[in-house]
Amino acid sequence: MILTLHEISQHFFFTGNVEEIHPVGEGLINDTFLVKTSGNTPNYILQRKNRHIFTNVPAMMNNIHKVTSHLKKKVAENGGNPDREALTVIPARDGKLYYRDKEGEFWAACLFIEDTVSYDAARDPELARQGGKGIGHFQRLLVDMPGTLEDTLPGFHDMRFRFQQWDEALARDPAGRKNMVKKEIEWIEERREEMLTFKNKFETGEIPTRVTHNDTKISNILFNRDGEILCVIDLDTVLSSSCLNDYGDAIRSYANTGLEDDKDLYRVTLDTGIFEAYTRGYLSEAIDFLTPPERENLAFSARYITFEQVLRFLMDYIEGDTYYKIKYTEHNLTRARAQYKLLHSMEERYEDTRDIVERVTREQELIQTR
Ligand SMILES: Nc1ncnc2c1ncn2[C@@H]1O[C@H](COP(=O)(O)OP(=O)(O)O)[C@@H](O)[C@H]1O
Ligand SMILES: [Mg+2]
Repeated sequence: MILTLHEISQHFFFTGNVEEIHPVGEGLINDTFLVKTSGNTPNYILQRKNRHIFTNVPAMMNNIHKVTSHLKKKVAENGGNPDREALTVIPARDGKLYYRDKEGEFWAACLFIEDTVSYDAARDPELARQGGKGIGHFQRLLVDMPGTLEDTLPGFHDMRFRFQQWDEALARDPAGRKNMVKKEIEWIEERREEMLTFKNKFETGEIPTRVTHNDTKISNILFNRDGEILCVIDLDTVLSSSCLNDYGDAIRSYANTGLEDDKDLYRVTLDTGIFEAYTRGYLSEAIDFLTPPERENLAFSARYITFEQVLRFLMDYIEGDTYYKIKYTEHNLTRARAQYKLLHSMEERYEDTRDIVERVTREQELIQTR
């Protein structure tokens, strides 16, 4: 493997001599390696992209290149350091933004950003605030990016498409599990109309399409040694979509007091303190570009994205566990129930969360006009 990695690294426009290559990160999606060069030349990140999840890597890399080029321009205009505050894609020697090896695997590279700190979870309000600020800042810099991005993940957050898949899954019932989850199926059906009504706001353009990140977990933000946000990374999922999807998904992951697959449902609730902290950080950056309909729908977007996740876990259970990796037979059902508990908690606290968004909006408007 080491020799092969060296060979692969030779296909990229790296300066300096490659000294060593070793794996970094958790590697849930891609395989990530740090390429160290000798002397004063930069170090690099080399990644094998997951081609089962990303079926069009060339289009994905075009999207990433578009986004990072714009980010760099904006960072430079604001007097920042474009090599540290944005990812720098390193092309292959043939000029392509990726290298495809003999086995058909896709590889891509970027500059390694030195001296950073990262976190796996944001259980603390201050970190949640920083996370919100990071994504808000990212979206703000991209508000005036020209052109659009290619849809590299068709159907992503598209509730109409999810319900089509859902109806087909129920009609086929391939694993013969439908009758065992009647109550859970009701959870989905009871909310079908309200979720499609929400989806309609995207379709009519009431809620605008913008450049979004789509994997807003805290581990995708690099901080500097002073604890300030430095750079948003992991841009494989950048899409033209709604800001509400990024916000809703962040709330779903940051503000859950339990685990995504918690068996102890009493542990799973919406943490309104974390909700508020994330919202404060997010709006400190996003307040001046969000339209009134976007602001008004922030609280509901958390329900929308969490509902989508209940549906997807339950659908995968019904289909016989074909999409998500499972650790035990009922894993997808456990996940669906835990996400439903979170959804239920969001519904119970919906008025509170709307009040929080309203209050923080006013607070941030005041700060901005000062
Ligand atoms: N340009 C970079 N500079 C420094 N560290 C990076 C860089 N890119 C990735 N990393 C590190 O590698 C880890 C995995 O990379 P990431 O792109 O998030 O892959 P995945 O899609 O598998 O999550 C990150 O969490 C981060 O710690
Ligand atoms: Mg990541």
